[in-house]
Amino acid sequence: MISLAAVSTDHTDLRKAYGCFPSGVTAVCALSDGAPVGMAASSFTAVSISPPLVSVCVQLASTTWPRLRGLPRLGVSVLAEDQDAACRALAMKGGDRFADLAWEANDDGALFVNRATAWLECSVYSELSAGDHLIALLEIHGFGSDPGRSPLVFHSSRFRHLSAAV
Ligand SMILES: Cc1cc2nc3c(=O)[nH]c(=O)nc-3n(C[C@H](O)[C@H](O)[C@H](O)COP(=O)(O)O)c2cc1C
Repeated sequence: MISLAAVSTDHTDLRKAYGCFPSGVTAVCALSDGAPVGMAASSFTAVSISPPLVSVCVQLASTTWPRLRGLPRLGVSVLAEDQDAACRALAMKGGDRFADLAWEANDDGALFVNRATAWLECSVYSELSAGDHLIALLEIHGFGSDPGRSPLVFHSSRFRHLSAAV
């Protein structure tokens, strides 16, 4: 029997329910005054083909997003299955997130993680307020992919690998 809890001020169980939905993990990064800036984001969603739009949801408390949102181009890298350490590094509160990361940036300042499974060069298209997050719509200007590389999967607060069902 399915039992439903009322939404309460303790969000532990709601977070657990959200965590049942598996996602990939992206790195949203750019050069700002020549220095790399970026963050891990598992809230990535492909939204529209024409125009080509993707979205990420960003916590209002993020200190990194305000540094990214005004830049002309952002690089979105879809992390591959062996890049859990890169994801952890890009979510660190202190320290140099890029110290052990192999990356490259293009002339427009979009920064990409090497050996990811897909790369999107984006600009901020619009932002929507959404509770304690904002939804950032990003327009794609260029892209590349390596579909042979399996993606990193985030589910129930753990990193996982995909396996084929059949
Ligand atoms: C697997 C994983 C997924 C994450 N996904 C998001 C996300 O979708 N949106 C977000 O705002 N933060 C996300 N974070 C947290 C950020 O990467 C980062 O830790 C957070 O923005 C705090 O750092 P900041 O103050 O520098 O922004 C994620 C962290 C991890 C480890």
